[in-house]
Amino acid sequence: MYGDDIASVLITEDEIKAKIEELAELVAKRYPPDSPEGDLLLICVLKGAIFFMTDFARALTIPTQLEFMAVSSYGSSTSSSGVVRIMKDLDKDIAGRNVLIVEDIIDSGLTLSWLKRNLSTRNPASLEVVTLLRKPDALRTPVDVAHVGFDIPNEFVVGYGLDYAERYRDLPYIGTLNPAVYS
Ligand code: XMP
Ligand code: MG
Repeated sequence: MYGDDIASVLITEDEIKAKIEELAELVAKRYPPDSPEGDLLLICVLKGAIFFMTDFARALTIPTQLEFMAVSSYGSSTSSSGVVRIMKDLDKDIAGRNVLIVEDIIDSGLTLSWLKRNLSTRNPASLEVVTLLRKPDALRTPVDVAHVGFDIPNEFVVGYGLDYAERYRDLPYIGTLNPAVYS
């Protein structure tokens, strides 16, 4: 659908689906279904994590509630500075709740470290992270991520929520972009 903009498919639709089932099974075991903290709160970091969040929530066998946040990182388009601005905050108080941040990708890890610090000041009962993708750079930032779908090479990827200039989010797989697209 995007001509030959996609250089290669890194993770297929079926592989994503299987991984989400696996992650959902692990996560469901960690949260008792009738916990006094209430239903697990999934916090989707917009926009990239949107498809992951909806598929993941439906794969989980425990009740969840869905919340959304949008953040933007100052800095160049290819590397984040760690200085983050909240574009859309949560509508809800998360104090005393079990919270799971749902991320699309962790690159340097700076955005996520900032987000974890910010949310932990709001006193949730617990705060963990599930990410579909992680790049090797993330291993250099001490950010604790409970669940990782795929570790991927240090290449720019698109699809399944991830964009280049707001395009390609609607692809059902994760792919790498043909360099001709950047130039
Ligand atoms: P940091 O470096 O703070 O950045 O972990 C995480 C955010 O950067 C974006 N990002 C990407 N977006 N393809 C994308 O479409 C990529 O390969 C990629 N790498 C990082 C993304 O918004 C993520 O939340
Ligand atoms: Mg983006």
